[in-house]
Amino acid sequence: FSLKNYNTFGIEAKARQFIAVHSVTELKTVLEQNKLEKKFILGGGSNMLLTKDIEALVIHIDLKGKKIIAEDDDFVWVESQAGENWHEFVLWTIDQNFGGLENMSLIPGNVGTTPVQNIGAYGTEIKDTFVSCEALSITNQETKKFIKEECHFGYRESVFKNEAKDKYVITSVVFKLTKRNHKINTSYGDITAELAKNSISEPTLKDVSNAVIAIRQSKLPDPKELGNSGSFFKNPILLKSDFEKIHQQFPEMKYYDISETEVKVPAGWLIEQAGFKGKRFGNAGIHKNQALVLVNYGNATGQEILNISKDIQETILSTFGIQIEAEVNVI
Ligand code: EPU
Repeated sequence: FSLKNYNTFGIEAKARQFIAVHSVTELKTVLEQNKLEKKFILGGGSNMLLTKDIEALVIHIDLKGKKIIAEDDDFVWVESQAGENWHEFVLWTIDQNFGGLENMSLIPGNVGTTPVQNIGAYGTEIKDTFVSCEALSITNQETKKFIKEECHFGYRESVFKNEAKDKYVITSVVFKLTKRNHKINTSYGDITAELAKNSISEPTLKDVSNAVIAIRQSKLPDPKELGNSGSFFKNPILLKSDFEKIHQQFPEMKYYDISETEVKVPAGWLIEQAGFKGKRFGNAGIHKNQALVLVNYGNATGQEILNISKDIQETILSTFGIQIEAEVNVI
């Protein structure tokens, strides 16, 4: 079974066996019936690089549905099944004037995988509105609810990338959104500029969403046109004491303070300075508008893309003494 249409990088790789599940009951049955089988859970396929065929039963989580589960005067609790497309879900909340997800418009992927890496963009992360998620244990098919505190969210991090890795399938997620007094967040410079360009001084949720969409469309390639997985690397976090030494040598280096003791350096800047931006190597390359994004020009293999990423990592390490880590899951 070809997985080419199930990963946004558009890599040709095969699954030994493939099954799409459309309900939690169906998922339970499939897990029960394949207890001894090696299993691979596939969501939207927007954050992975396939470097080989998958010798396992691939279970594609195609659970649909979204609804309001509670509300009071100020807030609404909405629940989405894991297989809903993230961007469509965000637009659905904005259409009803529910606030909190607008800065994360147009992020590829499905709702069920958003908690795994605590997706974020333009000053907002999933953890800011996340309440809980429901998951099914792969080993015993029991349902477990993870409340926010149990998810140990960090920058592109969560329990699902650590202790709970490969143990659960997230089946639905609950978010708490505002019904009024929305916390419009335009702190990110690009958003301010985009709104100013359109002479918007008091932006609505829809205005912020539209601004984010415009920014993303100008910088990030559409996976339907050019295979990619968003940021390939995480922005490295350095101890201030280490950073200061590096900064002396490279005074132009961009950075953001993230705590008393740590700074975050934009990996896109490092990659661009190292000369990789817009470069093409065979069937793959580095996007011309955003150096953090690796792209597939059509027939790249996962291995080709992995090799480019390693080349970038080694160059950044030897040039700046900074280790950058992949954000995407390399399979
Ligand atoms: N930069 C460059 N050259 C580049 C790209 C970036 O010099 O080619 C520098 C610039 O100084 C720029 C700064 O990096 O001001 C930040 O760039 P940008 O605003 O594009 O954000 P990013 O740090 O590169 C992160 C997320 C994105 C998210 C944006 C906006 C990570 C790994 N990536 O990118 O998330 O959309 O911020 O909030 O944190 C994703 O995770 O897939 C993703 C696209």
